[in-house]
Order: sequence, then structure tokens, then C-alpha cells
Amino acid sequence: MKNIDWKNLPFGYLDTDYNIRCYYKNGKWGELEISSAKHVDIHIAATCLHYGQECFEGLKAFNCKDGKIRIFRWEDNARRMQTSSQGILLAEMPVELFGEAIKKAVLLNKEYVPPYDSGAALYIRPIIIGTGPEIGVKPAIEYLFLVLVTPVGPYFKEGFNPVNIMISRKYDRAAPEGTGHIKVGGNYAGSLLSMHEAHKKGFANVLFLDPRAKKYLDECGPANFFGIKDNTYITPYSKSILPSITNKSLMTLAEGMGMKVERRVVPIDELETFEEVGACGTAAIISPIKLIFDDDTGKAYEYCKDGKAGPISSKLYNKLRAIQYGDEPDVHKWVTVLEM
Ligand code: PLP
Ligand code: COI
Repeated sequence: MKNIDWKNLPFGYLDTDYNIRCYYKNGKWGELEISSAKHVDIHIAATCLHYGQECFEGLKAFNCKDGKIRIFRWEDNARRMQTSSQGILLAEMPVELFGEAIKKAVLLNKEYVPPYDSGAALYIRPIIIGTGPEIGVKPAIEYLFLVLVTPVGPYFKEGFNPVNIMISRKYDRAAPEGTGHIKVGGNYAGSLLSMHEAHKKGFANVLFLDPRAKKYLDECGPANFFGIKDNTYITPYSKSILPSITNKSLMTLAEGMGMKVERRVVPIDELETFEEVGACGTAAIISPIKLIFDDDTGKAYEYCKDGKAGPISSKLYNKLRAIQYGDEPDVHKWVTVLEM
């Protein structure tokens, strides 16, 4: 295992030894290639550079108490990547080849999978970029699929400690019928300015509203939003929300804990009624929220009055982590144990 300060890892990029590459040419994907290069050499007219023809995924591998490495729900990421490809006319990566590539990337860099008790994980980042040259606005005919891995700590520096969030009306991350529901680079470029402004005002991130009416809750930065009240787990539905695999898992776990689950439009005013709220995603895991500030109205919604995550968020967090780290039986078949 590498000599890294695992316990203090931020959510950032750290070099590892290998990445996996696969090229799409003449209408088909080639063999998986192992690379130790940190750069890609692409054409100056590649569609990813000019027209943002790019999609990506994010998932994690965990070092477990039994010495095995587990990957969480990778098939869901593979399928979501196909949906993203369909949305911006990228070549689709077959699920099996995606699986082979991410497993290879993890195994080749297994010295970088953080130890069990560090709370950190190996973040797996597959991308597909249009590499073929075009200058008219059209999809490329050549693509590169690449998987890099990097060890990460929690996305928010607060970890599982509650964060402050700001409602953004000034900017949207995606259009009502646009690309919000798929994981394409443009959505993240579109969110940078609003996040930057929120950070400058001292907030950890932005709570976006639905881009059509600006009346309903959408996403919380690069994570889904959830609220809890009356033994019910409530998460916004909107066409511009990315369907989060973490959120889907939490819905299943909440149901298993005897809670009701609702995925529906959530008006802003409902924020007043929640007992607990949080952001969830692969990177964020669960990030409890203690304050939501509406920058336009000056209204503040407060939670976690004792400064700690609420009981249900804590229970969901512990349950999810226990499954990911192999401490609890994987009854939902979410986990792949790597053959080493
Ligand atoms: N929403 C956005 C915009 C994201 O970027 C992510 C991260 O992938 C999520 C939600 C959470 O999705 P998942 O739980 O599949 O990581
Ligand atoms: C994730 O949660 O995996 C993300 O992709 C969020 C962000 C780092 C883009």
C-alpha cells in the first residue's frame, strides 16, 4: 500500500500508476489498453474540445475488513453512461467492456485503494470523449473511452458534518428539456459560476431550483437532494435532475427501514417542514445540511440544531457505508467483490 495520508485525503486528484483506454474507430470499440501516461494526444478539431461532446461517470471501490476490494453498483453506472451517450450522440460503451475496464483500472492501482478504516475510497472516473475532427456541429466518428482512478476523501471538507447551502435563482445548471438528466461535462461547466459565487459567500454549495418555474427543488450542486419528515424519505423529481445511484440506494434502504419513499416535485416552501435534509451522491455520500439560505428572499431554513446530522440521515449513512465496505450482507446484490 502506498504511503499516503489516507485519513486526510481531500476529494481531489492524485496521480496513480495506470489508466485504461479504449478507442472507437470504424464503427467499433478496440481492445482495452493499459497506459501509464497522464496525457491524451487528441486532434485540435476534436468534438470534445469544441462542442463539449463528452460524458463521464463516477463510482467507488472500497478496501474491506476481509482484505477484499468491493465496487459499488457499477452496472448502474455503465447503463447511465449509455443513456448519457444516447443524449449527446456519443458511441455507447457496452456494459461488459465498461465492467472489464473499471475492474482492470482498480486492480492495476490496488495500492492506491485507501485502507478500510480511513473512511476514504478509490474514486473511479470513466469518461468518453469525441476525438474525431469536425468543425461543423456534428457528432465525431471517433471516440476515446478512458478510466482513471484516484484515491479520495469526502467531497465536502465537512465530511459527515452538516454544511450550509445557498439557493440559486440566478443560474441554472441545465435547461428544462436539456441535458440535466445525463452526466455530460457541459452541465458542470454551467454550474461553476453559481458554485463559485456560493463559495465566495461562505456556502458549501448551491441548491438549484427547477429551471422552468423556479418553484421546485432540483439538485444540490453535484448531488441529489433529500428531505425527511413524518417517517418519509422525500426526493425531488424533475427532468433536469441526474438520477443518482446513491439516491436510488437510499430510497431502497429507507423502505427497508419501514419508511415511506416519495419521489415527486418538492416546492421550495416545503423546506420549512423537513426534519432533516441532505445531499447525496457517490462523491458526497450523504452530506447533511444544517442551513439553506435563500439569497433572494433572505429566508433561512435551519436543521441539525444540535450541530450534528439527524438520526435518520445517520442511520442511512451507516447502513450504506456498511454495505459498501462489506460489513453487512449485500442482500440487494449491489456489490462486486474483485478477484485478485
Ligand atoms: N447529481 C449530480 C449533478 C451529480 O454529478 C452526481 C454525481 O454523480 C449525483 C447527482 C449523484 O449521483 P450518483 O449517486 O450516481 O453518484
Ligand atoms: C460523483 O458523485 O461521482 C460526481 O460525479 C460528483 C462530482 C465530483 C462531479
